[in-house]
Amino acid sequence: MEPLPFINYLRLSITDRCQLRCSYCTYWREWRQLPAPEILSYEELLRIAGAAAAVGIRKIRITGGEPLVRRGVVDFVRKLHHVPGLTQVCLTTNGVLLGELAEPLYEAGLRHLNLSLDTLRRDRYRQITGRDNFQEVWRGLERALDLGFHPLKINCVVLKGINDDELVDLALLARDHPVQVRFIELMPTFFRRWWDHHFLPMDAVRRRLAGLGPLRPRSRSATAGPARIFRAPGFKGELGFISPMSKHHCGSCNRLRLTASGRLRPCLFGETELDLKTPLRQGASSDLLESFFEMAISRKSRSSPFPTSDLSLRGPSMVSIGG
Ligand code: 5AD
Repeated sequence: MEPLPFINYLRLSITDRCQLRCSYCTYWREWRQLPAPEILSYEELLRIAGAAAAVGIRKIRITGGEPLVRRGVVDFVRKLHHVPGLTQVCLTTNGVLLGELAEPLYEAGLRHLNLSLDTLRRDRYRQITGRDNFQEVWRGLERALDLGFHPLKINCVVLKGINDDELVDLALLARDHPVQVRFIELMPTFFRRWWDHHFLPMDAVRRRLAGLGPLRPRSRSATAGPARIFRAPGFKGELGFISPMSKHHCGSCNRLRLTASGRLRPCLFGETELDLKTPLRQGASSDLLESFFEMAISRKSRSSPFPTSDLSLRGPSMVSIGG
């Protein structure tokens, strides 16, 4: 089958572990650590990356859990840059270990970095993430800025009543630094009532940023995700808005996901998973691995709108599938 050209982005979860216990994360409440043999080895991940590239994947984002907690990640990043066909290797991190790993990651070839940061206040960081790591994350961000990672994106989940009084301050990071600050709508969480309470639609976020001046839209690259990107007057960086709840449309989704245990998911919210680990460990040929990717691509639903009505608890956990 001809690969459909616009499925060009794979999110690769390399661990199910994370140091943080974020209040909006559905995962850790039910998390039982996968036994080590269940997690794909780096060699296996590289084979999968090769198969993905062969069917048209151009961009791979390394996720977790928290990818930087896995030993050997720097070496893996270096090797991933040598997989033929890939044009972008990106990594998403909570930043706790970024202070020490930013430099080796940069030397390993990494340039595209996403950092999760929902507040600029230490006490609030502890409230949101359950851990007192704000200062480490801030140091990590400074280190990444010094080294010149680009694009450097800061992902900020908007939580009404928790961090929505900081939206302007967070946006101003993009005035002062060449970063892209991206505001993300809260997706359904473990407790439905908690979501009702803290969800703020992106239109409201945009209104609260009106004082920054007119936002000029930026064009999107072919491998871009669902963010709408803008530049405000006098800003070194950009602002992005991600609206999984109010605007998402499956027809424009260009991504696949691989869980840390080697399951390929065509859709974050669908039930379909293709097990790649078993065939991989039974000596599957590259052709066979590629055919799994083609199957996953063909199973992506293109036309239906985002199934907002029935997401709450059955949905898969964000950490295990890498967000
Ligand atoms: N809503 C929105 N984004 C989420 N993430 C995880 N859980 C949620 C949720 N409930 C994403 C955010 C965060 C990263 C760790 O995963 O981008 O920064």
